[in-house]
Amino acid sequence: MERLQKVIAQAGVASRRKAEELILEGRVTVDGKVVKELGTKVSSNNKIEVNGIPLEREEPVYFLLYKPTGVISAVSDDKGRKVVTDFFPLIKERIYPIGRLDYDTSGVLLLTNDGDFANLLMHPKHEVDKVYIAKVKGIPTREQLKLLDRGIRLEDGLTAPAKTKLITLDKKKNTSIIQIIIHEGRNRQVRRMFEAIGCPVMKLKRERYGFLTVHGLKPGESRELTPHEVKQLRAQSQASK
Ligand code: URA
Repeated sequence: MERLQKVIAQAGVASRRKAEELILEGRVTVDGKVVKELGTKVSSNNKIEVNGIPLEREEPVYFLLYKPTGVISAVSDDKGRKVVTDFFPLIKERIYPIGRLDYDTSGVLLLTNDGDFANLLMHPKHEVDKVYIAKVKGIPTREQLKLLDRGIRLEDGLTAPAKTKLITLDKKKNTSIIQIIIHEGRNRQVRRMFEAIGCPVMKLKRERYGFLTVHGLKPGESRELTPHEVKQLRAQSQASK
């Protein structure tokens, strides 16, 4: 038996909080009866409807994709470009990416059909480290990197402290490779941070998401997360909320 709001969230219909609102508003029925009690427990035998539409219950699934560049982090694209779910032709569950990597960014991307889990990981307060390797134009000085470490003002506000490390530099080509660790997930954040110090990103890869890497995978390949990995991610996000 599971709580009704959890089952609705897991079906990908809404976040758990939104599911609670739907229940309180009387828009959810269980076996044909309106249920407004948040604590209601349901089993897989109960027929649940949200706004009159039967809930399609799916087992939660969790994947790690090594996203290649040139792919949109979405489930469909009106311009017909390749999307990340194209890499899962045999998966019948309606999975979607947790957050986003830019079209031109490669690396670790998680996908799931578990709305609750996705919301937890995308919560602005969660502290999951995201490690990026950026090839940038120019060779930033220590002071410039310190600006990123302390937090830098972007058009949508100050960034949280980051950790940067110069890995290699090429004086001839005037480029460098930098590791940057951030916790936030704002739109094009790493690119905008480097732009703000005058070193635009030429290439970007997310090397690590929490403790997860693309180890053993080639671009375009994916694997299922183990139950233990899912538990660990959940615990880490909950602990930092
Ligand atoms: N920051 C970016 O700028 N792009 C990404 O894809 C991820 C983080």
